[in-house]
Amino acid sequence: MTSLSLRKIAASGCGVAELIGARLTCRPAARESATGIAPGRRAALLPGHDTAARRRQPNLRGSPMEPNESLGHKPVLLNEAVECLQCTPGKTYVDGTAGGGGHSRAILERTAPNGRLIAIDWDDHALERVERALEEHRDRVLLLRDSFARLPAILKERNIPAVHGILLDLGLSSFHVDDPERGFSFSQPGPLDMRMDRRNPVTAADLVNTLSQAELAELIYRLGEERQSRKIARKLVRARAEAPITTSDRLAEIVVAAIPPERRTRLRHPATRTFLALRLAVNRELEQLQAFLDGVLDCLHPGGRLAVISFHSLEDRLVKQTFARWARACHCPPDWPACRCDGQALVRPVVRKPIVPPPEEVRLNPRARSARLRVVEKVERR
Ligand SMILES: C[S@@+](CC[C@H](N)C(=O)[O-])C[C@H]1O[C@@H](n2cnc3c(N)ncnc32)[C@H](O)[C@@H]1O
Repeated sequence: MTSLSLRKIAASGCGVAELIGARLTCRPAARESATGIAPGRRAALLPGHDTAARRRQPNLRGSPMEPNESLGHKPVLLNEAVECLQCTPGKTYVDGTAGGGGHSRAILERTAPNGRLIAIDWDDHALERVERALEEHRDRVLLLRDSFARLPAILKERNIPAVHGILLDLGLSSFHVDDPERGFSFSQPGPLDMRMDRRNPVTAADLVNTLSQAELAELIYRLGEERQSRKIARKLVRARAEAPITTSDRLAEIVVAAIPPERRTRLRHPATRTFLALRLAVNRELEQLQAFLDGVLDCLHPGGRLAVISFHSLEDRLVKQTFARWARACHCPPDWPACRCDGQALVRPVVRKPIVPPPEEVRLNPRARSARLRVVEKVERR
């Protein structure tokens, strides 16, 4: 198991730096927690947790995205996202994270009768669902199993010079969390998998059973912003010496045992941040997002819009900083020694502040509570 997994990780080109996302500047104590709940909003969202004592009662029932909250996937910020894309008949759009087909369907409805949609998801099960959900519009949809990071290549391979709007709704769908076989849930036993694209050779079990203690601690700290990362890594290494860690519930138990009771909070399951870190690493989510952002402006017509819905602070920060750089007159990457651009902004922000879901949407769909929608419009070159 160990040497095979190490070979798989090596073959996938991931050192721990790549898994963590080497181009990211990760700071601990981000604005949002790993659950994505901004500290100032917690009281409103979770009434009755106002004393420190109550806050320390551990939550061992499940994460904010655990199955009791969802039946199928409810699209988040649906109207807001589709409005911002200015969907127009006759034009072409991309949904880079088709998931359950909710946003895709809304785009198709608003672009009827002749707008076109390229719907992408790297999860084969998701694509099957999307195909069913979009059945009535099938002659206007191109369904692709691929990564949105490859969008420039996807368009080039099909001789599509550019599109009029692109949407990303990042992360997991409720279908992932609700299916114990996918290994994302810490309250339901399942194989420790966590791959969204099951062609990916590396699972969470591979990482947990083969990375060194120092690498595990670094990964859990950087990607999960988990302050107890060293303790957790130590426990994981001890536990795997007894038997490889192969199930999501055993991983959760080990992490819970590693976190001192006084460090637990009733706001989230103690394993939330560790699960988040592993999931981000297995799917190289920040790297995918960075690669997408590096190429996406070439995929848009002038006047075309890009809308991104993110769910945690690391991905939101990447989007926010990139959009801010594009909107400045000089938009050279920060590590270039001198300005090499022509001093024109590449985009215009469509909204100054991120759009967040209204309280009613959060009440009906708690998963929406950490969502942030940012939108820019590509500007016409002078
Ligand atoms: C939050 S769900 C999207 C839900 C969808 N907007 C809806 O309304 O049903 C995110 C989806 O994006 C997919 N995904 C995540 N990263 C991806 C990537 N790099 N390339 C393609 N699909 C990705 C996941 O497999 C998942 O199905």
